Amino acid sequence: MQAEIGKDISRAAALLRAGKLVAIPTETVYGLAGNALNEAAVASIFDTKERPSFDPLIIHLPTLDHVAQYVQEIPPLAQRLADQFWPGPLTMVFARQPVVPDLVTAGLDTVAVRIPRHPLTRQLLLELDFPLAAPSANPFGYISPTSAEHVARQLGHKIPYVLDGGHCQVGLESTIVSFTGSEPVILRKGGIALEAIFAALDSKVAVQTHSSSNPQAPGMLAKHYSPQVPFFLVTDLPDHQQLLRYSSIARIVFGATSAPFPMGIPTTTFNLSVQGDFSQAARKLFGLLRQLDDGNFDAIVADLLPERGLGRAINDRLRRAAAR
Ligand code: TXA
Ligand code: MG
Repeated sequence: MQAEIGKDISRAAALLRAGKLVAIPTETVYGLAGNALNEAAVASIFDTKERPSFDPLIIHLPTLDHVAQYVQEIPPLAQRLADQFWPGPLTMVFARQPVVPDLVTAGLDTVAVRIPRHPLTRQLLLELDFPLAAPSANPFGYISPTSAEHVARQLGHKIPYVLDGGHCQVGLESTIVSFTGSEPVILRKGGIALEAIFAALDSKVAVQTHSSSNPQAPGMLAKHYSPQVPFFLVTDLPDHQQLLRYSSIARIVFGATSAPFPMGIPTTTFNLSVQGDFSQAARKLFGLLRQLDDGNFDAIVADLLPERGLGRAINDRLRRAAAR
């Protein structure tokens, strides 16, 4: 079997109703979608991605009205974020209703919900009478896919259909905010800048620094989003002798200036955005990482971006890619 790539929403809907998996475009990254209320479909998401089943999935819905069926309540601060950022690259975690299968939430009594903005997927969700559970459509731990081709290349032999919505406009996974404790907590930096969340919530929000001892959220594990080729941050290079052993190094930079690099070591430079535009850099990031991973380089070295706006989320992905 090799996945068909197309724009046929009815076909995607029919496959999903039959319990099959379909890759769907969202503005963040492509998702590997299945009927969130069908345990067999959800189980095959974990199989297909080779994802550990203790890592819970996000459910995707078309409108805010649909959300009420699956969560206990939407607190006022969450309502504010919903008004401002849904549909869009925001995921919120709430206390769940019993109808959500344990497999989706990894047994937690909370559920992550998102209303994506991509028009094809919104239309698809409107045609279905169940939510779509969808993690990013990449093998567990690898770089998230931002085009239909990225998905087909890695998972094409395992799924029947990729709904082709073109290149993802945001290019980074959603920002995740949890509303399950006494105050909102940002669990993952993503497509909506922290500053925008702070502004919307009058700073009544905490940021949970990731920890690899938190098995409930491997998306927050230190090592993730990793190319196969050795990957380093320019701020944390191996020693000169080891660097000299790499004959072909790809260098990722951003903006007009780049960090100093040891003399005498040849590199090929790729700029995420010559103009220093964070959105453009976010759109390019995962595609570039894949391109370099598939290319003839034997190491990749990245500069960090300024720590503000989407630069924070991009740095988060770069740090995880470099984690050992
Ligand atoms: O942009 C996105 O969010 C993409 C698109 C496809 O929607 N999806 C995505 O899913 O990035 P995934 O599975 O790769 O990452 C979801 C993250 C995981 O780190 C998971 O641990 C966390 O969400 N998560 C899911 N349910 C949760 C819950 N109930 N409590 C805390 N974290 C949760
Ligand atoms: Mg993922």
